[in-house]
Amino acid sequence: MGKSATVLAIETSCDETGVAVVTGKKSGNRYELTVREHLLHSQIATHKKTGGVVPEVAAREHAVQLPRLLVALSKKIPLAALMQEVDAIAVTAGPGLVTSLLVGVEVTKTIALAWEKPLVPVNHLEGHVYASLLKPNKGERHKQRDFVFPLLVLIVSGGHTELVLMKQHLNYRILGTTRDDAAGEAFDKTAKLLGLPYPGGPALSTLARTGDPTAITFPRPMLKSDNLEFSFSGLKTAVATYLKKQKRINRRDVAASIELAIVDALVGKTIRAVERYRPAGVVIAGGVAANRLLRSELEKALKQTAPKTKFFTPLLAYTTDNGAMIGAAGVIRYLNGTKSQPATLRVNPHLPLK
Ligand code: KG4
Ligand code: ZN
Repeated sequence: MGKSATVLAIETSCDETGVAVVTGKKSGNRYELTVREHLLHSQIATHKKTGGVVPEVAAREHAVQLPRLLVALSKKIPLAALMQEVDAIAVTAGPGLVTSLLVGVEVTKTIALAWEKPLVPVNHLEGHVYASLLKPNKGERHKQRDFVFPLLVLIVSGGHTELVLMKQHLNYRILGTTRDDAAGEAFDKTAKLLGLPYPGGPALSTLARTGDPTAITFPRPMLKSDNLEFSFSGLKTAVATYLKKQKRINRRDVAASIELAIVDALVGKTIRAVERYRPAGVVIAGGVAANRLLRSELEKALKQTAPKTKFFTPLLAYTTDNGAMIGAAGVIRYLNGTKSQPATLRVNPHLPLK
C-alpha cells in the first residue's frame, strides 16, 4: 500500500517567482509525481535592463508577483478546495538571495498559519535534482521512471556547479564543486563580454548554433587534473583577452568555442566520476541542464563509457527555476516526515545540500 500527499509549493530564491501544486505517491521507496498546477513569473525583462539580477529589485518583484500568482492559482483551484487537498506547504528555504527567499518564506508562513498546515522547507538544489521526475502534462508521450541508485548528479545552475553522489533518495555526498565561478555564471559572464543580453546562457547557446566550436581553443582548466573539481574563472579571462587582442571577431565562432569549452569541462569531470563510482544512473540538474550541447555530449560520452548507465534529464520547462521542482522535492520530503513550524523556519542563503 502506498502513501500519497499533495503540497502547495512556492519558489522565490532568485529571479523567477513560482507557484505549483504537486501530488506524490510513494510505493516502497519509489515515487510517482504529478504536477497539478504550475505557474511561473519570470523577471528576465526587469533584469535585462541592468544586465543582471539586482537582489533588492528581485525581492520587490517577488513581493508583487507572488500574491498575483496565488490569485491566478485560486482561479484554477478555488482556495477552499485547495486548503482541503493540500497536506503541507513547501517553500525554498535556501540557497539563494536572502531578500528574495524571505518573500517566499514569509508568505508561506502566513498561509501555513491561516490553513493550519505544516511547512516543508526545501533546498533549492534538491528541487533541481527532483525536477527530472516531473512528467509532462497529460496527453504528451513520455516514458517516466524513478531514479536508480547510486545516482550521480551534475548540478549546473547560475550559482552552483557540483558533482553529487546519491546512494538513495534524499541522500547526498558532494564529490566536487567549483573553485570559483559556476557553469551558469561562466555562460552569463562570457556572454556579457560578447554583448549578449541577460541571461547570457541561452543567448550564447543560440548564437553558438551557427558557429564553429573548434575555431578557438579556450582553456578547459582542471580538466586533466585527477579530481572532481571545476574552475571557470580562467575561461572568462581568456575570452576577455581574446576579444581585446583580435581585430576581426566572428562572434558565432567565439560563442561556439566558449560553449564547447564549458561543456567539455562538465562532461569530462562527470565521466571521470562515472568511472570512479560506477553509478546506475546520471542526472543533470539546474538551469544549464537546458543546454542542448551539454545534453547531447553527455549522453554520447555515457554511451561510450558506461552504456548501461541510465541518463535522466529534466523537461525543458522544469530546468530553470520553477515552483513544480520545489513541489517535487517538497512532497517527497513530506512523505518522509520533514516538517517545520512557522515560528522556527529560517531562510539560509548558503543552505548546504545534505
Ligand atoms: O537554475 P537556474 O535557473 O538558477 C539558479 O539556480 O542559479 O540557472 C540559471 C542559469 C543561468 O546562468 C543561465 O544563463 C543558465 O542557467 N542557462 C543556460 C541555458 N539556459 C539557462 N546556460 C546554457 N545554456 C542554456 N540553454
Ligand atoms: Zn536554480
